[in-house]
Formats: sequence, C-alpha cells, structure tokens
Amino acid sequence: MKKYEIAVLPGDGIGKEVVPPSLEVLHTIADVHGGLSFEFTEFPWNCDYYLETGKMMPENGLEILQGFDAIFLGAIGNPQLVPDHVSLWGLLLKIRRSFEQSINIRPAKYFKGLRSPLANPNDFDLIVVRENSEGEYSEIGGRIHSNENEMAIQNAIFTRRGTEAVMLYAFELAGRRRAHLTSATKSNGIFHTMPFWDSVFNEVKEDYPNIDTSSYHIDALSAFFVTKPESFDVIVASNLFGDILTDIGGAVMGSIGIAPAANINLNGKYPSMFEPVHGSAPDIYGKGIANPIGQIWTAKMMLDHFNEEELGQKLLNVIEHVTGDDIKTPDIGGTATTKEVSDEICKRLKEL
Ligand code: NAD
Ligand code: IPM
Ligand code: MN
Repeated sequence: MKKYEIAVLPGDGIGKEVVPPSLEVLHTIADVHGGLSFEFTEFPWNCDYYLETGKMMPENGLEILQGFDAIFLGAIGNPQLVPDHVSLWGLLLKIRRSFEQSINIRPAKYFKGLRSPLANPNDFDLIVVRENSEGEYSEIGGRIHSNENEMAIQNAIFTRRGTEAVMLYAFELAGRRRAHLTSATKSNGIFHTMPFWDSVFNEVKEDYPNIDTSSYHIDALSAFFVTKPESFDVIVASNLFGDILTDIGGAVMGSIGIAPAANINLNGKYPSMFEPVHGSAPDIYGKGIANPIGQIWTAKMMLDHFNEEELGQKLLNVIEHVTGDDIKTPDIGGTATTKEVSDEICKRLKEL
C-alpha cells in the first residue's frame, strides 16, 4: 500500500472551508482505490497565527514542510488584519521560492454543466504554464523619501535559467497535448525583460520543430482568452502575466472558484504544492457557500503528480457529473452549500 504524507495548510478565509471537504474527497478516493492512503498533517499557519506570533510560520516551518510528499494549501490572506504583502511573502511566496517550485501549471477548460459568462463558448481546453519563482514578483527594489520626493522602485528579474526552464516545460507539455504553444509577451512596451523573454522563446523553439507556436502581447492575449479561448492549447507566461491570465481562465469557465493550480518543484529536492487559483474570499467567508471545486480539482492535480492519473481523471469526471446535475454553489448559479457539493462528490466516488 502506497502511503502519501501530505502537509495541509488551510490558511485563511474560505481556505478553511474548502480544504476539509477536499481532504474527505481524497480519503474517499483512497478507500475506493484500495491501494493507496493519505496521511494529512495540518498546520495552523495563517494571518491569525501571525497576529499571535508575529510570523506567518515558525522559524523552522520550511524544515517541517520539507519532509512531506506534497503540500495541500487553501488560501492565504486577511487584508483587513495583515497587509497582503506581509502575509503572502511570509508564507505562500516563501514556500514557492524556497522549495524551488519554479513552475505553476493552471488548466482551464469548458466544464460540463457550468454556465460560462461567454455567450457561445466553444469547447476549450487550455493550460497556462506560469513562471513561478522570479519575474515581476521580486523583492529587489525599495522606497525612499517622503512627500513629493517619495519614490518606489520595483525590479523585475528574468534569469536565463528561470526563463528557459519555464519555456522547456511548456514546450514538452505542448508536445504531450495538441502541439501548440503560445507565448505571453509585452515586448512592445517593456523594454528589456520582454524582448529577452521573446528571444529565449525563439531559441528554445528551434529544438521543437513539431510544435506550432505563436506569440501575443498580453493585452491582446487577455482579450483572446475571452473571445476565442478554444484557439489555445498551452500558454507560457511570466509570473504576473500568468497570474492575471489564470483568473480570466477561471472566469471564462464560469467562476474563479473552480480553477486549480499546481506549484511544481522540478528537481525533486522539495515537495510540490497544490492550491486553487482563488484567494481567501473574505466577502463570502463564513457563509458555507464557497465553491470547493478549485480545491478538489487541485487534489486531482496532486494525484496526477503522484502518477495516479487514472484516479485523477475519475475524480474530474465525477466533479463534472455533479455540476452537470446542477449541484452547484451560488457562484456558478446554484443553491448548494460547500458541503453539499463535496458530499455529493464523495457519494458518487463511492458508487464507482
Ligand atoms: P479572491 O480570489 O479571494 O476573490 C475574488 C472573488 O472571487 C470574490 O468575490 C470571491 O468571493 C470570489 N471567489 C473566490 N473563490 C471563490 C470560491 N471558491 N467560491 C466562490 N467564490 C469565490 O481574490 P481577492 O479578493 O483579490 O483576494 C482576497 C485575499 O486572498 C487577499 O488577501 C489576497 O491577497 C488573497 N489571495 C490569496 C491567494 C492564495 O493564497 N493563493 C490567491 C489569491 C488571492
Ligand atoms: C495566486 C495569487 C498569488 C500570486 C498572490 C496571493 C501573491 O494571486 O496564486 O494566483 O499572485 O501568485
Ligand atoms: Mn492570482
């Protein structure tokens, strides 16, 4: 029997509402399958923990997490109590960086039973490969002076190593899919980093003659995500562009509440981390109506990561049947609660 040891960080807000039912789904899958089990160890690291201790995680937090097979995270952030850049850089971004989770993969597809806000959505199925360790997200820079002399500098960091790594991953992934890769650029307005991004893309492309490529500026590409998402297969994007594109990906599916993400460590030195695309949604926290699908779909991505793809596909099929039968939370036009959706998913998994 294969046992997976998972560190669980529900985090803040609806993270605390969507993580527990997703763990039940994983336990149910393990029972149905018979050949695997999960051991979950939960850590209460979030903004409340910060208010008590002055830190988002203990000094040895990374050491603790390092021993697990994967990290399963809800969402971090309670901006009313802790500034976002403090909470996110103290936990989520710290883990992504320290654990060299250099790639963030985020699928979006036409989802059975979901009412997309697009009037006539075609059957789309795309995946954004987001650079996850550098780019526009950097601590390099600073603020000086005050009043009219005040200034802030934020440096974007694009290394050849990081840029090549995300491109390679994306080309390989496109080769296993429909062999089309789109690069998200902005080399018309960003003077240094984006022309560099384009030249690395063009260099790497030479080694993949069988992959069809295109390159769009992020502004036009964002619009195409809305007007013709079916024209995309794999999209490779910098940290910030990938972040923005994937909320749009969630939105055109029907809700950001269903979009999943996987932060992948490629060198095997540290665990990878699985989380939904959405945040802690303070506006709906406490009502029991958060959509659990983003969190459950990322459980599917974790199964894929453990080479349990068949099981992962079964789970995704069950999710789609449940939405297809109209058992949906309010964000996607239903009246069901978080628990009703996840209970139904568990029930149907048991019937398989
Ligand atoms: P958000 O994703 O939390 O919410 C945006 C909108 O989507 C809200 O109206 C919310 O109600 C809705 N929504 C999100 N998830 C939903 C779900 N599962 N079901 C139903 N509706 C859902 O984004 P935000 O409001 O910009 O951020 C809130 C907090 O979360 C901030 O502190 C932010 O920094 C943080 N955040 C954290 C993560 C993360 O931990 N990975 C990601 C994004 C934002
Ligand atoms: C995401 C989030 C994070 C990001 C924030 C909370 C730092 O928006 O995972 O999409 O921008 O990476
Ligand atoms: Mn985001």
